[in-house]
Amino acid sequence: MESALAAQLPLAVEVRTGEPWAALPGAGWETQLSELLPWADALCGIIPAPHRQTLAEAIRRHRFRLEPGYAQVWVEADLVCGVGACLACAVEVSGGGVTRACVHGPVFDLVRLCT
Ligand code: FES
Repeated sequence: MESALAAQLPLAVEVRTGEPWAALPGAGWETQLSELLPWADALCGIIPAPHRQTLAEAIRRHRFRLEPGYAQVWVEADLVCGVGACLACAVEVSGGGVTRACVHGPVFDLVRLCT
């Protein structure tokens, strides 16, 4: 997967992939983040909702702040109608609001999901 992606990117772009949280639960995932975050110019991932805040906090700890555009997260959601009518794909956003993954996602800026 990584090599297939890298083949489509300019030579100046390096791609590093991390292990999923499930493979490195707890401190192992945090250790991995501490190695990847200072290096990365951008981050994209599929982060389960309970771990998004952990990722946001790790970014702030290693990079001093979470800037818009730095981390893009794919939100897993049930896309039942796909047109914004059923709210099956409702995603909580920072500030207490809700948006729809089928209309405004499924990829969101981490800033939009975490305060
Ligand atoms: S899938 Fe129905 S509102 Fe998003």
